[in-house]
Amino acid sequence: MSLTNFSAGNRPAAAPASGLPASSQTLAKVTMPALAQMKRQGKPITALTAYDYATSRLVDEAGIDLVLVGDSLAMVVMGQDNTLAVTVEEMLHHTRAVRRAVRRALVVADMPFGSYHGADGVGNAIRFVKEAGAEAVKIEGPRAELIRQMTEAEIPVVGHLGLTPQSLHRMGGYRVQGKTADAAARLRDEALAVAEAGAGALVLEGVPREVAAGITAELPIPVIGIGAGPDCDGQILVLHDMLNLTFAPHAKFVRQYADAATMIREAVERYREDVEQRQFPTDAESYHLPSKAAAVPVDAVKAE
Ligand code: KIV
Repeated sequence: MSLTNFSAGNRPAAAPASGLPASSQTLAKVTMPALAQMKRQGKPITALTAYDYATSRLVDEAGIDLVLVGDSLAMVVMGQDNTLAVTVEEMLHHTRAVRRAVRRALVVADMPFGSYHGADGVGNAIRFVKEAGAEAVKIEGPRAELIRQMTEAEIPVVGHLGLTPQSLHRMGGYRVQGKTADAAARLRDEALAVAEAGAGALVLEGVPREVAAGITAELPIPVIGIGAGPDCDGQILVLHDMLNLTFAPHAKFVRQYADAATMIREAVERYREDVEQRQFPTDAESYHLPSKAAAVPVDAVKAE
């Protein structure tokens, strides 16, 4: 077992968002009302997905406002072909890991396919808050009544419209939505209904820039775009997309900010070569018996 740990020591606690001096603002806890305030102030909202302790801690410490434990983890973490098979238990497991890491960002849990399509939607949403520490849940589709019920149960909701990956089979593939006048008008009506039902924010995915701009201007809640152009109130990307960790060609809207695949591959190859050539570990990377001890008890060496 490695001795490495992610010590929580020396980590500043996030402070409440309001009334802080500018120097503390970087630590101000992001809440759902804080996102609404950012929209009012015209301040872009930054969002990324994350699924584990290490990466979500880095994302949080880099100052990202919203961390989504996306059901995209089915694909980028679990290697599945689409998002449909991931379960509530699996999403809870990852949300807990993210929750332990994130201090400042708003932690949003994606509700997986099937978990809110029947009678148990509110009950499952409560599980994400109660058992995993999510501060909001995200659901796909124009489900105004369910959003109303969740909001009444004190669960902040992020809606998700446009290209909704859980609708893969109905859409016949991952296709840009809202491309005709009729489809754009329908999307606008759905977005207004989601906001009116009480959603605190809306993810708009895979829609023409012009349509997203219109919806963003009209909606009273923050619109966070992915493949929806630059005029939304904020942007979200899948972390593995922007780090080149998906083993697939990326979509037009993804900008790659780092090549983690190359970095990891090269590091692992160097480690393998070092071990094969007996270059690792060195004497300096080894423990030693105390110089005077001819016969030190094995327990004492283990404890060193
Ligand atoms: O699951 C996910 O990663 C998402 C984002 C694409 C918004 O829903």
